[in-house]
Amino acid sequence: MTLNRQSIHGEWSSRWAFVLAATGAAVGLGNIWKFPYIAGENGGGAFVIIYLICILVIGIPLMMAEIMLGRRGRQNPAATMASVAEESGASRHWGLVGGLGILAGFLILSYYSVIAGWALNYVFKAAAGDFTNASAQQIGALFSNLVASPWQLLFWHSIIMLTTMLVVARGVRQGLEKTIVFMFPIMLILLVILVAYSMSSGYFEQGLAFLFHPKFAQLSPEGTLDALGHAFFTLSLATGSIMMYGAYLPKNASITRASVAIAAADTGIALIAGLAIFPIVFANGLQPGAGPGLIFQTLPIAFGHMPMGRMFATFFFMMLVFAAFTSTLSLLEPSVAWCIERFHMSRVRATVIISSLIWLLGIGTVLSFNVWKNVHLFGMDVFDFMDYLTANIMLPLGGLLIVIFTAWFMRQEAKLDELQIKKGFIYYKWRLTMRYVAPVAILIVFLKFLGIF
Ligand code: PFF
Repeated sequence: MTLNRQSIHGEWSSRWAFVLAATGAAVGLGNIWKFPYIAGENGGGAFVIIYLICILVIGIPLMMAEIMLGRRGRQNPAATMASVAEESGASRHWGLVGGLGILAGFLILSYYSVIAGWALNYVFKAAAGDFTNASAQQIGALFSNLVASPWQLLFWHSIIMLTTMLVVARGVRQGLEKTIVFMFPIMLILLVILVAYSMSSGYFEQGLAFLFHPKFAQLSPEGTLDALGHAFFTLSLATGSIMMYGAYLPKNASITRASVAIAAADTGIALIAGLAIFPIVFANGLQPGAGPGLIFQTLPIAFGHMPMGRMFATFFFMMLVFAAFTSTLSLLEPSVAWCIERFHMSRVRATVIISSLIWLLGIGTVLSFNVWKNVHLFGMDVFDFMDYLTANIMLPLGGLLIVIFTAWFMRQEAKLDELQIKKGFIYYKWRLTMRYVAPVAILIVFLKFLGIF
């Protein structure tokens, strides 16, 4: 059979554009909103170390695999996996694994957009000076009032979905690439300014100790699964995003180098975000384990009392929105590409249909903070359930299956050809990790969680 050598959706203009786009997909709310609060909930240090190990032994090899598969297949993740499997003489049913990823991305975007909406609302709150000299209670009330209002949440969620839709409808180069190339550097500059500020707060060492001093006794099997799930989530793995972006990668780019660069940038930014946030948390006697509201309920108190806090707060939330936006684009693209290829419809039409469905599903998350507060699925509210189902179950499971496919079913010549490396040290190390280390590590975390191990 012949494989497509180019995606019907086009290609990034250069490998740099790809690295920027994939890093933009990876860096988002996961790094700045989620990483600090789950690290906080799980006691810091030990969680961070498990997370770093997961990035190293599972994240980077899997990222290489996904980009490689994407570029080999050049279609949406489901079709890509089916055709690469066929090329290797395996069953086309492997396409279902790609489909699982597309579905995970679809579900994630429904709640991700709601949280990105909080961040967007906070840009306006910050610019209006709402945090200036506000007490902890006042800041707490700002947050509770926002999440208590379904209409407000729906409004901000709608803006995020609408803008994401407008960009994705314009296509790979005109929409995604142009937006990412504009937003990502601005986000980075804003982050650097904030870290510089945070380092001067006097509590930097306490933040450092919290993040890196491991207390393994405090880490539960649940926390270990959180760390594994977060490694997938933060690198956008097993969600179709990276495989999809790989499908638009020019032929000559090095996949190994790109993967290491993306993972390093993503991890670096999460740690920088932690180092920017925890000193402020400790300097103000706030709680690191405050949950999803951590950055929204705590940081504004600090911003409200610092010189030029209004400006810094506006910068911070703007940075968060930009970071989130380059991720929402990557979450929408795989479902849209699937829809275009599967039903032969125009990009605009596919984007409108898929975005509307995701928007609709997001209403579940919107309501889970207020009207449906007491509606529980498996003991969790809708938002927690969606987050848990995707990050802790679908992504590790999808990741495990992609690892197994690549390591055990994909033909070696196809892998070497696509990775463009020789059968040398790097290849054998990658193969060893993919065959044994990564799958065993994922299984151990799962079994430990289930109490079997
Ligand atoms: N990696 C993004 C973050 O850390 O915020 C979230 C994300 C984007 C997850 C794209 C999955 C995905 F496909």
